[in-house]
Amino acid sequence: MTTSAVPPLDLKHRPRRNRKTDWARRLVSETRLDVSDLIWPIFIIEGQNRREEISSMPGVYRYSIDLACEAVCEAASLDIPAVALFPNIDSQLRDLTASNATHPDNLVCRATRVIKSVAPNIGVITDVALDPYTSHGHDGLLVGEEIINDATVALLARQAINQAQAGCDIIAPSDMMDGRIGIIRSALDAEGFQNVQIMSYAAKYASAFYGPFREAIGTSRTLQGDKRTYQMDPANVKEALREVALDLEQGADMVMVKPGMPYLDVLQRIAETFQAPTFVYQVSGEYAMITAAARNGWLEGERAMMESLLSFKRAGATGIFSYFSVQAARLMRNQS
Ligand code: PBG
Repeated sequence: MTTSAVPPLDLKHRPRRNRKTDWARRLVSETRLDVSDLIWPIFIIEGQNRREEISSMPGVYRYSIDLACEAVCEAASLDIPAVALFPNIDSQLRDLTASNATHPDNLVCRATRVIKSVAPNIGVITDVALDPYTSHGHDGLLVGEEIINDATVALLARQAINQAQAGCDIIAPSDMMDGRIGIIRSALDAEGFQNVQIMSYAAKYASAFYGPFREAIGTSRTLQGDKRTYQMDPANVKEALREVALDLEQGADMVMVKPGMPYLDVLQRIAETFQAPTFVYQVSGEYAMITAAARNGWLEGERAMMESLLSFKRAGATGIFSYFSVQAARLMRNQS
């Protein structure tokens, strides 16, 4: 009997009917990625007309402020709603007390002022954490062997005010100290920054996937030990729910899960439980994996990129930090 001679099965349900053509697939599609979902993280360095590729993140650069402005203008013209700035501070300026973090003319404050003046309609998110500024690369103050919480929080509040004074729109604490959201909220309000939003890195895991980022901001060589006394254990999800509850109670406007792909379950639980704006960070190591495989011809890069971004939306993300943001936005624009 030839295959075509096989009599049809008496099937009531044939889920393949809804997949038979492109139009039918589009009609039943449950999730859509939109350019409004994307946030683009960029790395900033001192100097003029400088652009350095990060070797573990091919296609991602550190920009001097002038070139960062051009890059941000392109992001704005693609309708990307916001960028997140990460400075690579000169090593002579890093010290034990992270003193440059509260300097009004530090790299991130200068970048914020210039970017807001050339691209006023794109949101600027600044990172609150001490790691770019400490000589040991930790997000908090190190006393002996311990990252001390309460003195770090006091300093983070001053860092947040410094960034708000420079004109940032969203303060994003990525440090994972206890109680920082409430203290930062009161400090901002006391200085008249009631309208500056707080996006908390609420469930941030102690992850191996941050490796290339540490190269990008220059902490991979200096970091002493690891961050497991403040970032979360990858084994835990109930704890992530408690962290998010605390941050929302203390006044976070938005929360985040980080990394992304290995933590889709965490993202889904948080999005469903709290119904608050829930962001996800597709981190440097995720970008590096996809890009490296694509450059080797082992994956179709664009498809893998779009599939990974879509998976965050399916899991419930409100928005996505991704180093692919500009690439994905260009692709979506060309396809529409
Ligand atoms: C540190 C910070 C990290 C990232 C964002 N902010 C790294 C770390 O915790 O060591 C990681 C981002 C990425 O890997 O893309 N405050």
